[in-house]
Order: sequence, then structure tokens, then C-alpha cells
Amino acid sequence: MAELPQEADPAKLTRLGLETYARELGEYGLTVVPQSVLGLPDEFFTHLRDTVLAVAEQRTGAHFDLNRGLDRSLGGRPNEIGHVVITHLVDQDPAFEQLLTHPVKKALMSHLLGETHRLSNSSAWIKWQTPDDWEKVMSTGMHADQSRIPTPWNWRAPHIANMNWLLTDYTRENGAFSYVPGSHLEQRFPPEQEAMDRAVPVEAPAGSLVIFQGCTWHGSYRKETPGLRISMHGIHCRPYILPGHDFQGQISDEVYAASSDPDYLRMIMREDETMLVRLADI
Ligand SMILES: [Fe+2]
Repeated sequence: MAELPQEADPAKLTRLGLETYARELGEYGLTVVPQSVLGLPDEFFTHLRDTVLAVAEQRTGAHFDLNRGLDRSLGGRPNEIGHVVITHLVDQDPAFEQLLTHPVKKALMSHLLGETHRLSNSSAWIKWQTPDDWEKVMSTGMHADQSRIPTPWNWRAPHIANMNWLLTDYTRENGAFSYVPGSHLEQRFPPEQEAMDRAVPVEAPAGSLVIFQGCTWHGSYRKETPGLRISMHGIHCRPYILPGHDFQGQISDEVYAASSDPDYLRMIMREDETMLVRLADI
């Protein structure tokens, strides 16, 4: 059985009842943590989903309806593939910060990336029925998140890990996440056709947390149903990787003050890099 080295405090995994999920990360490169283990009520996820849609409406001008989809074309790439990514959500509502500092997420990210790691992005994905013109089986092509790092990778020490908080159900018809179980062990970039042939859907209800590592081959199926698939994503990386989005100096003191884990939040935002001089301070 493939085991990852336990870089974080293994007692923490035990205390939180996460050994099964840590073991699955070693064996499959991905795990699904159910809502009951996360200990968050339905209302939390409903609020998060509504907030994502409110921010999306504010930023795009479109109206998003959970059951009917959106009321206009957004043009460009979203129109071609049938989804839009809403970025920089950390400080848009306290619920986003609560996801980032959730003890289960923190423990599993620490397990994969070591205790010191960074947030690379904080983005919601809103996906609607895949347009007929998009002829591929996957609406997001199969890839690995650490693809910019030369192979062979070391699956026991991934550079990157990612999370999907499901705010609507993932089913294959509903455009679920796709992945190849155990593909991280191959330590190579996925050839498109091979990855599609071997892919399986990750089917799980809203309220679940999917965590996977940077070597794992993944993508997502086209959405065959009306309405919206909504999820909250967050790539994390080791401290020597340049995060995709730069949160350092961008989050207000009020957000840190309200956090139940401000030290961890500061660390993933790179606020512990005290040797760096901010432009604003010059
Ligand atoms: Fe990805």
C-alpha cells in the first residue's frame, strides 16, 4: 500500500479521525472527506453557495440561477467551455476564511505539503450545461496541477495540493471532477487520451471536501444537465513555489483578527516572510 511520509504531526491526523483519508491520499492521490467528518452544518454550505453566486453576479453582471443556469453569455473562454472562475475570494465573506483554516483541511494539506505551505489561489468554479459546440468528453482537460515542474516527480513529496469544497452535488452527468486513481504514483504528466481512458468520476454530495495532490491526473466531465455546479477550490503549494495569486499584504487586519486560526492564515498568505519588503513600505 502506498503511504506518504507524515510530515505533519501524525497525532493530529489521529485526533481528527483522518487516518483513512491520509491513507487514501497515499494510495489513490485523492480523498473525499464527508460533511459529517468536517462537522459543518448544511447552512454553512448553503450560505457559501449563495455568497459565491452573489459575488459572481456583482463581478460579471449576469444572473446565476441554481436550477436554470445563467441568463446571458459571458463571452470568451467561459462561453466556449461552460464555466467561469471567480477568483480572490478570501476576504469576500468570513466563510471563505473558515474554509481555509478548517482543521481538517489544515491537517491534510500539512500531511501533503509539510506544515509550512502557501495558498496559491482562492477561487470558486461555476459550471453550467456544457455547450454543444464543445465536443470533448471533458470540459476541463486531464492534467496534473504541478505540470510546470519537470518530471519525474516525487509523489511522496508533492509540490502542490488542491481542494474542492462541493457546494452542489458532484455526479458524472452534473459535470463531476474526473481523476485517475493511483496516477500520482507514475510521477509523469498525463497524455490526454490515456488519462481520459482511465478516468473515473468523483461522485459525492454537496458538503464534501475533495483533496488531491499535485501529481494526480484530473479534469472534469462535461455537464449534461441544466442548472449550476458550484465548488470552491484552493491550490496550495510548498514555500519555494511562487503562488498563482499574491495575497501578501492584500488581506486586512480585520480578517486576521476574526479568524479562529490567525497564525495559520497569516502563514498561508506569506505574511510570515518578514525579510521581504513590501512596495507599500518603501
Ligand atoms: Fe487542476
